[in-house]
Amino acid sequence: MTEADPMTDEFDTMAAWTAEAVAELGSDHAIPAACRGSGSPAALEWLAGRLRLQPGTRLLDCGAGVGGPAELVARRYQVAPVLAEPMIHACRASARLFGRPVVVAAGDRLPFATGVFDAVWSLGVLCTVRDQAGLLAELRRVSRPGARVGLLVFLRTVARLPEQPEGNHFLTAEELDALLAGVGLAVLEHAELADFADPEPEWQAAADRVEAVIERRHGSDHRWQNARSQEQVIGQLISEDLVAGRLLVLDPAG
Ligand SMILES: C[S@@+](CC[C@H](N)C(=O)[O-])C[C@H]1O[C@@H](n2cnc3c(N)ncnc32)[C@H](O)[C@@H]1O
Repeated sequence: MTEADPMTDEFDTMAAWTAEAVAELGSDHAIPAACRGSGSPAALEWLAGRLRLQPGTRLLDCGAGVGGPAELVARRYQVAPVLAEPMIHACRASARLFGRPVVVAAGDRLPFATGVFDAVWSLGVLCTVRDQAGLLAELRRVSRPGARVGLLVFLRTVARLPEQPEGNHFLTAEELDALLAGVGLAVLEHAELADFADPEPEWQAAADRVEAVIERRHGSDHRWQNARSQEQVIGQLISEDLVAGRLLVLDPAG
């Protein structure tokens, strides 16, 4: 798209380029490359256990991106994932890489009946969404009685950030608590992303090789430069502890 649309560059164009690079490098690169912002496999394992994922669990991944986290747990726990994601090229990329069911949809207007999912998660999405209460209310609505909702949320630890990636709306922990209470999602447990082990070196190396192929092919494209600068801003905020990832396990019964 245009230089004025860095979220599209970061989440749509980059998704298509990621699938293209995986096709060049091999399918063993797909899951590490397709976990965009969701943190480490260890953090996903923690969440998977608390969401009680097991064979056949109907898991909704809202804001699924390129689909790496859903694929990881689909293979490990034989869950049946359904992906919802507003960026069409991200949907196409996940379908190309993993072939799981995916719908082009925003999280605040999910095209599903009420109470149809056994578990729901949304990873690294809330801060990119304007109608955050609307998205959370939808996650709650589509959860069946007894289901749990998992979130990875990047929170602001200071009153004011020196800079902010475009389109991001970082909440403080207090603001998140109030938002969750307002939509009737009770916090059962939480953990800090920084406390989980880093990915294995081979996982990181695979992700890096995919990044290198994308840069080689598209590094002179302004959309790659926009996406890279967005990623650098958020990376800097996290490295300075101005923004920190938190995992939450939520009870939709409130
Ligand atoms: C940081 S990425 C995380 C992707 C994926 N969950 C992961 O962990 O790899 C944020 C994702 O949220 C998606 N997103 C943006 N606005 C959204 C909305 N209103 N509803 C659902 N997803 C949205 C973006 O397109 C992007 O794929």
